[in-house]
Amino acid sequence: MRAVVRREYGETGVLRVDELDEPELAEGRVLVRVKAAGVNMAEWHLMTGLPSIARLAFGLARPRNPQLGEDVSGVVERVGPGVTRVAVGDEVFGSAAGSWAEFARAREDLLRPKPANLTFEEAAAIPMAGYTALQAVRRVGSLERRQVAVTGAGGGVGSYAVQLLSARGARVTAVCSAAKAEFVRRLGAHDVVDYAATDPTDGGRRFDAVLDFAGGLPVRRWKRAIKPGGLLLLGGSEQGGTVLGPLGRSVQSVFVRGVRVVTFLATASGDDLAELAASLESGELRSTLSQVYPLAEAGRAVDALRAATHPGKIVLVP
Ligand SMILES: NC(=O)c1ccc[n+]([C@@H]2O[C@H](COP(=O)([O-])OP(=O)(O)OC[C@H]3O[C@@H](n4cnc5c(N)ncnc54)[C@H](OP(=O)(O)O)[C@@H]3O)[C@@H](O)[C@H]2O)c1
Repeated sequence: MRAVVRREYGETGVLRVDELDEPELAEGRVLVRVKAAGVNMAEWHLMTGLPSIARLAFGLARPRNPQLGEDVSGVVERVGPGVTRVAVGDEVFGSAAGSWAEFARAREDLLRPKPANLTFEEAAAIPMAGYTALQAVRRVGSLERRQVAVTGAGGGVGSYAVQLLSARGARVTAVCSAAKAEFVRRLGAHDVVDYAATDPTDGGRRFDAVLDFAGGLPVRRWKRAIKPGGLLLLGGSEQGGTVLGPLGRSVQSVFVRGVRVVTFLATASGDDLAELAASLESGELRSTLSQVYPLAEAGRAVDALRAATHPGKIVLVP
């Protein structure tokens, strides 16, 4: 099968399309014929090995696993021993290992039926950004009339967080570039701050919670715009040093008092995929797919993700 691989760390020049053997299936594993695969910042981190502290987990000198890609939508091709939830021919979406390929291996509990009202491309734009947004939104607690700011609002995670918060009763301030203002308003944002023109912590704004998926401001600056006892959720960013990356901001947060600062890491969850699927089918949530690239152009897709001139999500098709 054709698969995108990288055998060393680096920018998109290290990506190749290779012929690999089809994966073997262990207990509880499923082989999915990939129809579309999502592109997330996670793959940029895995591709570059940055921040370098991550290499402790992914391989010190070079990546242990050459393949990339988690988000998947497709059709079940084969099932391994003990699989009961899915059957050959099912149309599914969810989290896989090595989805930037013609076939991907997945745990059966991390796949769910593809929402019938979504194309495969739209469905592949959901999993990681969707469950991350959902789990971050849950951290806010009750949402009715709460003032919540979302940074990175025009990106993958942000575009789902804005929709979920707004549909569930929060007053949402979306922080994004001016080019994405109209996009986030259509997703339900009540107020939009162009971070290039205006500091979102100025102007007397006071938030119950800030879901920070951009990392553009120091933790201490956010503190002045968060109500006492409110939440600052550090969701991630590509800013910070090459060793610790966004974890540097978590270190800053040790010295902050009066607000709850949470370093947040989402985990793939079948139950959350099911909740997202229900929201997509009811119309509470819409896929924010905006660009589709062929597998062979995975490098261009990652460069586009980094440039962030598109709203919402990018996917690959084999
Ligand atoms: N914690 C977790 O478990 C978890 C899970 C998934 C992703 N993440 C992290 O979350 C972050 C967002 O992921 P994503 O997939 O949504 O990435 P994405 O699609 O690239 O979105 C990031 C967005 O941030 C915007 N942005 C850049 N600088 C900004 C600033 N100073 N203020 C506000 N917005 C800014 C960019 O567009 P504009 O500049 O045009 O507004 C872009 O739309 C990444 O750092 C990713 O690694 C964390």
